[in-house]
Amino acid sequence: MSVDLNWSELSFGYIKTPYRYVSNFKNGSWDKGELTSDDKITLSECAGVLQYSQSVFEGLKAYTTADGKIVTFRPDLNAERMENSAKRLEMPPFPAERFLKAVDEVVSANREYVPPYGSGATLYIRPFMFGSSEVIGVKPAKDYQFRMFATPVGPYFKGGIKPIVIRVSDFDRAAPRGTGHIKAGLNYAMSLHAIVDAHNQGFDENLYLDPATRTYVEETGGANFLFITKDKKVVTPLSDSILPSITRRSLCYVAEKYLGLKVEHRKVKLEELADFAECGLCGTAAVISPVGIINDHGKEIRFPSGMEKMGEVTKELYDTLTGIQMGRIPAPEGWIREIK
Ligand code: PLP
Ligand code: COI
Repeated sequence: MSVDLNWSELSFGYIKTPYRYVSNFKNGSWDKGELTSDDKITLSECAGVLQYSQSVFEGLKAYTTADGKIVTFRPDLNAERMENSAKRLEMPPFPAERFLKAVDEVVSANREYVPPYGSGATLYIRPFMFGSSEVIGVKPAKDYQFRMFATPVGPYFKGGIKPIVIRVSDFDRAAPRGTGHIKAGLNYAMSLHAIVDAHNQGFDENLYLDPATRTYVEETGGANFLFITKDKKVVTPLSDSILPSITRRSLCYVAEKYLGLKVEHRKVKLEELADFAECGLCGTAAVISPVGIINDHGKEIRFPSGMEKMGEVTKELYDTLTGIQMGRIPAPEGWIREIK
């Protein structure tokens, strides 16, 4: 049974749910961890996360399927990415097996907050980890906290799956050989000014270019790009400084194996965008959000799919991926983890 929420009206926001998982790293090892109802954290004013932003996070979702099961989608890949993120910031990785068990426990304990099938909402799970002990010289903390909460969410972009308008940003997101490929809080802190400015100028998101040459497309603040050519090929930008999106990797597989489309993972020039037929942003939060217009300093790139609806191929990809997630379409081996 679900709690009484207006599921179809939910935005992408935080609603406190009853339980979260906490484990602490102290004296060189993780404690056994447990669910708690306490949503507050008490920290030293000098904690590593507060001084030098030593924090990494993940995002994944739980779904109610057509036949009433509760499932998560490829949580093993979130566990793996979080390990990589932790290592890059000199944090002790949280073991993948324990990560998966924590996801199961958090979803199960909050099961009445998993939105019903067909409501358009999902349960968003936010695992995160931060340096909790005191640090004043620039170095990693000794102690850490791993935490995971869940919150029911609606669409990331208001308007749901209506095409959005984005702009080419003058700010850069991630330096070559920097931290763009991991999910560190610092990557998002430095995007806040750019996103507030984009919103003030009437745009939904920023398209970031490669900082070295500013000629290639990287990604947006919270999603990877997916382009469709006029002859229905799927093209996704290749770069060492973008986040390896689990949604994007899944969509590329779906495109090839379920829809018989050709997929190209390659560098994409800003100047070739006008040749594409469709454009979408893909990610856990964004699912696939269609892009109608990219504004490059006043010059508009208008995709033929328009501002009214998703492009045809984007829609097929969207329907197939969400069909797999909601149990309407058989999933590849290992993609769906049922919560008992
Ligand atoms: N790119 C960025 C910068 C993100 O924050 C996210 C969200 O996690 C993604 C891409 C999409 O990744 P995923 O599909 O794994 O959620
Ligand atoms: C996600 O898609 O899970 C993300 O973390 C993106 C974030 C910007 C909300």
